[in-house]
Amino acid sequence: MKFWVDIQRRRLRRGKIPEHVAVIMDGNGTWAARRGLPRSAGHARGADALRRTLTEAAALGVKYLTVYAFSTENWKRPPEEINYLLNLFMEYLRKETTELVRNKITVRFLGGLERFAPELQELMRKAEVETRNPRPLVTINIMLNYGGRDELVRAANQVLKSGREVTEAALPDYLFTAGLPDPDLLIRTSGQLRLSNFLLWQSAYTEFWFTPQCWPDFSGRSFRQAVRSFQRRQRRRGGVSA
Ligand code: IPE
Ligand code: IPE
Ligand code: MG
Repeated sequence: MKFWVDIQRRRLRRGKIPEHVAVIMDGNGTWAARRGLPRSAGHARGADALRRTLTEAAALGVKYLTVYAFSTENWKRPPEEINYLLNLFMEYLRKETTELVRNKITVRFLGGLERFAPELQELMRKAEVETRNPRPLVTINIMLNYGGRDELVRAANQVLKSGREVTEAALPDYLFTAGLPDPDLLIRTSGQLRLSNFLLWQSAYTEFWFTPQCWPDFSGRSFRQAVRSFQRRQRRRGGVSA
């Protein structure tokens, strides 16, 4: 098993590896409902899927992994579910930080973080500081209270406030993702074929990959399939093929 995984990884690494992969981690509730479990059980198992994805991204040489963990619209959910999710994030941070440092993984939290409890904000800041590394193997951006429209409105206002004109060159400097390359590949699980307000500006020329698998079932193998599919694409960005 391990042997085949190594061979597959080596094969993929001979091709072009997406530098930046974005993931809409969807289908936790569906996964749980299918098993007669509460939605929270799906979220808990989703944390394992994130660990597997991060391991695979590191093994393949992906530099940036940006994951959608909580959207500006997810506040519409029942308070119990929101609390469960926020506690899960806190637990994840408390437990994982040392392991992340050991694996040279830098964590960043992007989104409207001011909306969260000070205690959670403090944990996020601490995790960012502790995992800071001049040469990280992978940088994981965890998007929380993130919405593409909210991000664009904030950015446009900030450009204007700085006295500059809103242009295609100026705007990205004020997005939460400032300084990051645009995602090369975007993965969405659970069979839903939409962006749900994720990275609206940044995904203009991103390649999409969808899978019916629910997020808790997502594996290293699924990630390799997505990268394999990416390697077969021809990115033209409005031009003509070479
Ligand atoms: C994704 O799974 C996790 C978050 C949105 C936080 P969902 O909770 O959306 O699960 P489904 O889509 O209802 O199955
Ligand atoms: C997108 O999934 C948000 C996250 C995965 C965090 P949703 O489950 O909120 O999106 P919709 O409601 O299916 O569009
Ligand atoms: Mg969903």
